[in-house]
Amino acid sequence: MKKLLLTLVLFATGNLCLGAEAGVGIVPKPLSATVGEGEFHVTPQSGIAVGREAGLRRSAELFAQWVAPTLGGELKCGDKGAISLGIDSLLDAEAYTLDVATTGITLRGGSAQGVFYGLQSLRQLIVAGRGAVAAVSIVDKPCFGYRGGMLDSGRHFWTVDEVKEFIDILAMHKMNRFHWHLTEDQGWRIEIKCYPELTRVGSVRKETLVGHLSTSSEYDRTPCGGYYTQREIRDIVDYAAERYITVIPEIELPGHAVAALASYPWLGCRGEGYEVRTTWGISSDVYCPGKETTFEFLQNVLAEVIGLFPSKYIHIGGDECPKESWKACPLCQQRIREEGLKDESELQSYTVRRIETWLREHGREIIGWDEILEGGVSKTATVMSWRGSEGGIAAAKAGNHVIMTPNTHCYLDYFQTKDPVHEPLGIGGFLPMREVYRLDPYEKLNDTEQDYILGVQANLWTEYIATATHLKHMLLPRLAAVAEVGWAYDRKDFADFTRRMSTLRKCYDAAGLNYATYFFDGKEE
Ligand code: ACM
Ligand code: ZN
Repeated sequence: MKKLLLTLVLFATGNLCLGAEAGVGIVPKPLSATVGEGEFHVTPQSGIAVGREAGLRRSAELFAQWVAPTLGGELKCGDKGAISLGIDSLLDAEAYTLDVATTGITLRGGSAQGVFYGLQSLRQLIVAGRGAVAAVSIVDKPCFGYRGGMLDSGRHFWTVDEVKEFIDILAMHKMNRFHWHLTEDQGWRIEIKCYPELTRVGSVRKETLVGHLSTSSEYDRTPCGGYYTQREIRDIVDYAAERYITVIPEIELPGHAVAALASYPWLGCRGEGYEVRTTWGISSDVYCPGKETTFEFLQNVLAEVIGLFPSKYIHIGGDECPKESWKACPLCQQRIREEGLKDESELQSYTVRRIETWLREHGREIIGWDEILEGGVSKTATVMSWRGSEGGIAAAKAGNHVIMTPNTHCYLDYFQTKDPVHEPLGIGGFLPMREVYRLDPYEKLNDTEQDYILGVQANLWTEYIATATHLKHMLLPRLAAVAEVGWAYDRKDFADFTRRMSTLRKCYDAAGLNYATYFFDGKEE
């Protein structure tokens, strides 16, 4: 995975192996592309030969839809066709080879997932050439196994169709994890049958701050809410699986829990007086780990969560948990004494460890934000580094698995231009494409430590994002830079990436996706 040298030397006789300067217009960058002579023109009559694998047929049908607007009709999937799909078990599961000859196109994947990624590459070639695809031989595989995107459904609720579009966008970028932030101070979004108040009360806030937290005290006096039924969640999990994306739910604890406390006040230290938050920032009201009933609640919630999400990982949050209420709570103080804990930080790790133990007993593993390192963390927890890369570096050096999602490179809610007067309202910061692309998940790590880095993720928090158009304006094209680090870390090159992005832009246009144009117009600085 961390091999920095391209292992393939592909100067085939008479052909040109494309290096960093030239190359086919695919994002993320393929491992190698060898241009041949001539081209193949794909038309709706070309047909796709899919073989017997059900997964291949499904992917081929999706592919036919992606390229239909460009081709002016849908490719048929069947036993015969000029585009041939198949499995080559000698390849890695996510790898593929794509050969375009004047007579037809042959795509082989290490698994159906690899074929799916090959189809995403072919989609880009077809859209760019309006059906005419230059002869080429591509060998491709990803650098990292975890390539994710996070969507915050807590601050603003996104409809099932909007979530599916987010998943489609991840798939277009060959990403394979959808981290779904489902519970927040400002809204609880997942139906839990055991606790109906979570969605009856916790999914709605009575109003929302207008403007930025730092300057505004005005509210819109409009209730804002929404939640996903369990049936909708199953539908989304299946939809993602058909696109080779695992959905990782995040159920936040012990902080970011005010919507749960408003629903069941006994979950908090004070036991009363909570309201679903209407403003942003960090709340000092958090779950009370002094009470056994809090753990009973969390375990019952997680029991339903693991019934809905097959993911090995469950994200338990762990970030931004102020300790004031624990300091003032007799039950939390009693817990600290009885468990021999040093302080409230250790009470937080006690809480995380108890939940982790329960999840492990039920066959799952946890991911937590890098605060879970404070007060000690078990070796089996995976750390998501967000306050820069430092937490992730420390975790990898300590032997914990890590997902790199530092706010210095991966927070797509940050502004995209230096002087953001022409941008829609944002949280702050300045994160142009170049800076996203600079993400180095192996920063300051030796070979052994690098093995603990599972991959990278883009995060989209939505305090200041309330519409799907704005959401995509933040997501695209910067997601492409995170995707390229995740897929093509060993071969990344910003100048070459910039050139290839003009092809991906055509795919955004063909798919009718909104995106920001600052990067394309040279207006980020
Ligand atoms: C975070 O951004 N609070 C994980
Ligand atoms: Zn307490």
